[in-house]
Amino acid sequence: MNARSDRPSGFLVVNAFLNSSKFNEIYSRLGESARSMGISLDVYSNAELFLDEAVGLAAEKYDFCLFWDKDIRLASRLEESGLRLFNPSRGIENCDSKIKTADMLFPKRIPMPETIPLPFTYDNVGYTDTSFLEQVRERLSLPFVIKEERGSFGAQVYLANTMEEAVSILEGIGGRPALAQRFVSECRGRDIRINMVGRKCIAAMERYNEKDFRANISGGGKASPCSPTQAELDLAAGVMELMELDFAGVDILRSKDGPLLCEVNSNPHFRSIEECTGANAADAIMKYISENI
Ligand SMILES: Nc1ncnc2c1ncn2[C@@H]1O[C@H](COP(=O)(O)OP(=O)(O)O)[C@@H](O)[C@H]1O
Ligand SMILES: [Mg+2]
Repeated sequence: MNARSDRPSGFLVVNAFLNSSKFNEIYSRLGESARSMGISLDVYSNAELFLDEAVGLAAEKYDFCLFWDKDIRLASRLEESGLRLFNPSRGIENCDSKIKTADMLFPKRIPMPETIPLPFTYDNVGYTDTSFLEQVRERLSLPFVIKEERGSFGAQVYLANTMEEAVSILEGIGGRPALAQRFVSECRGRDIRINMVGRKCIAAMERYNEKDFRANISGGGKASPCSPTQAELDLAAGVMELMELDFAGVDILRSKDGPLLCEVNSNPHFRSIEECTGANAADAIMKYISENI
């Protein structure tokens, strides 16, 4: 406990540059849950903490940090100063890059759609020669998925039905890192989202979109509550452990060969899953924190 009182005292880190109501709602829900549990939770943006002096002051003042951002450098600096972060910087980093997620989980035998990180190019150069896509087609066959290394809401995930489409997708990506992935065709527009806190599922929904191969709610996907199978729960719990996460949204494809991990979100939005299932994700996160500090 901090020196000033015997009630746990922490702070929420949010991004200074994201101001949409979607994000603000999450922050206020976490604050409400903290208050209801007698936990003090101040709020800082990453732009208020980027100087080392601010990091040092925060580390002295607080017992924990609820880090709801992807400013990985700041997260590591706070940890180096002795703070316990929920999620830890490593967990955030492991999710932030879909290439890193695949590279770290493949050797651990976590089932995923076959994934091929594309060759690196320079930001100001782009993919000036796309002939390597032939090798991707040989391995994955058409159609295949192309994803930018970083992205959310399905906005940086594309389906290449032809080689011409694949080339034009890469033109649109410019020089940003990307991967290609086998398209799990029986899951077109359908996946499940499991919200995990610790090693436990606190809510799960099936998402489906008749009009798009991506199931994301923000892209028009509809949701219904779902009960994950034991295999799906084990997959999600294993991923939480390997990726060093306290809480996350785990996306799983229900393929004909069993559950395949699609991706992991370290800062999952929870309004849709709460509306769909009646779960209280903010309470579950704050309760977990209070039990783990
Ligand atoms: N390999 C795949 N095969 C079939 N559908 C996929 C595949 N990868 C992604 N999708 C669909 O696209 C959606 C968005 O992909 P995802 O990797 O979760 O990116 P984002 O971070 O943008 O949500 C998924 O929820 C899923 O419906
Ligand atoms: Mg997703």
